[in-house]
Amino acid sequence: MSKPLVAALKVGKSYGGHAALADVTLDVAAGEVVCIIGPSGSGKTTFLRCVNQLERIDAGALWVDGELTGYRLVGGALHPLGESEIARQRRVTGMVFQRFNLFPHMTALQNVVEGPVQVLKRTMPEAKAEAMRLLDRVGLSHKAGAYPAELSGGQQQRVAIARSLAMAPKLMLFDEPTSALDAELVGEVLKVMRDLAASGMTMLVVTHELAFAREVGHRVVFMDEGRIVEIGTPAEIMNTPQETRTRHFLRTVLTREA
Ligand SMILES: Nc1ncnc2c1ncn2[C@@H]1O[C@H](COP(=O)(O)OP(=O)(O)OP(=O)(O)O)[C@@H](O)[C@H]1O
Ligand SMILES: [Mg+2]
Repeated sequence: MSKPLVAALKVGKSYGGHAALADVTLDVAAGEVVCIIGPSGSGKTTFLRCVNQLERIDAGALWVDGELTGYRLVGGALHPLGESEIARQRRVTGMVFQRFNLFPHMTALQNVVEGPVQVLKRTMPEAKAEAMRLLDRVGLSHKAGAYPAELSGGQQQRVAIARSLAMAPKLMLFDEPTSALDAELVGEVLKVMRDLAASGMTMLVVTHELAFAREVGHRVVFMDEGRIVEIGTPAEIMNTPQETRTRHFLRTVLTREA
């Protein structure tokens, strides 16, 4: 067995005495797509933000790509990593948020080129060629010169995915990437994510799209009140959930969709 790309061991995170995450233990293998579902406030976003070190965990340990995140073990004691080390670790991971967060004053192409040129020190011609390839991959090479305000929400979200991929991440985190979109734009973004999964990308996807989780997810995690309640294959979680809370949540979502 190869090492998991993400290994969370009893991870906890509190805000002012309130546990947003408690005792979260989860391994994600390379190439695996894990979908996280659960009610509002159950800690889904917080978990992704911890994996990406946008938040510092305050209990347990988290490894990404084989490295302990945020700390270095020296002589049996944990020492917090400096900013540049954390920045280096964060580059393993790409993240796509619910709300498109493109730079509004840059074209689609400039948005995708920015990170590779500024952070990875690619030459402009190299970065542009790669960006065009990625825009093509998300079906938007014809919009390379458009500004975010000239793009639909679905197109903006696809540019955001291309921009993340331009940093050559080993792991992609998606936090409800389609929930701010009009219904008719959801499919085009899910298609890009489906293709990405088929290409072998490791993905952690917070989603309310149960059909996507069922079809694309290798495993589904159900979270409630900061904890993992149940993990299984999509069929196990959706057809034969073992926990009352999982059954209740699925019923609520399916009733809302109907
Ligand atoms: N920066 C913060 N400061 C204080 N509390 C926070 C902060 N971020 C999250 N929380 C709290 O942590 C808990 C988990 O929040 P989180 O955003 O992870 O939930 P979620 O499962 O992503 O919910 P949703 O489905 O609504 O996006 C909630 O009770 C929330 O209020
Ligand atoms: Mg959230």
